[in-house]
Amino acid sequence: MFGQQDSVVRNGSRHCPAIGGVFVELGRYLVASPHPRIRCWQALRELDDRLLADVGLSRSDVEMSRWSLQYAPTRRRSTGMTAPDERGRMSDVKDTVIRDATEVDMAEVQRIYAHHVLNGLATFEEVPPTLDEMLRRRDAVLTAGLPYLVADVDGCVAGYSYATAYRPRPAYRHTIEDSVYVSETLRGRRIGATLLKALIERSEAGPWRQMVAVIGNSGNAGSIALHRRMGFEMVGTLRSVGFKLGQWVDTVLMQRSLGRGDGALPSDLKETSR
Ligand SMILES: CC(C)(COP(=O)(O)OP(=O)(O)OC[C@H]1O[C@@H](n2cnc3c(N)ncnc32)[C@H](O)[C@@H]1OP(=O)(O)O)[C@@H](O)C(=O)NCCC(=O)NCCS
Repeated sequence: MFGQQDSVVRNGSRHCPAIGGVFVELGRYLVASPHPRIRCWQALRELDDRLLADVGLSRSDVEMSRWSLQYAPTRRRSTGMTAPDERGRMSDVKDTVIRDATEVDMAEVQRIYAHHVLNGLATFEEVPPTLDEMLRRRDAVLTAGLPYLVADVDGCVAGYSYATAYRPRPAYRHTIEDSVYVSETLRGRRIGATLLKALIERSEAGPWRQMVAVIGNSGNAGSIALHRRMGFEMVGTLRSVGFKLGQWVDTVLMQRSLGRGDGALPSDLKETSR
């Protein structure tokens, strides 16, 4: 961050910028840093005292940077879910752990999603939801008994996945929709594949039989490739159903079965017909 352009040559000798300038530069670096530990610390600072208390931290722990990633809540709460994909390959990022999202994780989840809302076409939202709204959405997922997962890399949230009801009317109750988002700086390192594989496995343990991907933007090669890799088949494309960032945007629908799919009647039907 203090490259040659930051130095000043005076009288043939090299001088560092004034000390005040160094702190300004440092501040700018910290605010803009993609480094997961720094982003994680920033996210913790934004949490209210109640959420910090939930994970055994006080405000002063965070403000005085006594909190260490070695003891980060994400590490302590790890449930150590699967990491390899269906070919047995591990994520390119070492030490990726897929686990249930905690309330504390949601600040980083909100930050990841906000980037994609503002800069991408994968989601048709245009205004990033607040942290409170993201907490409310996670609660709704958990209340429905569905999984909300994060990829924990080096103690920080690198991406997340969750499932929601595909549509609210009751006959759709065995069909769910997936969502997967990876931090912009960590895309293409198999984190998305690891997250989606874990989401499918968790969903297959429940009563759901079909998973649908509603992919914003037919040019979203990453998401289409990811879903194809995870066994989704192309259903079709809805042309120009969105308008975002100055352009018409398609929606791509993909689908895969969960568990026995439609090869057997739903288990709740068997129970209620007894
Ligand atoms: C889509 C997204 C979740 C994929 O996660 P990722 O960690 O970047 O992807 P992975 O590294 O796990 O790659 C999974 C597969 O997709 C392929 N892939 C990833 N990005 C790709 C791209 N831009 N073009 C073509 N293929 C791509 C990979 O090669 C891999 O396939 P393989 O196993 O056959 O090699 C991530 O890029 C992202 O967050 N994108 C923006 C938001 C989004 O589109 N979310 C999906 C909403 S439905």
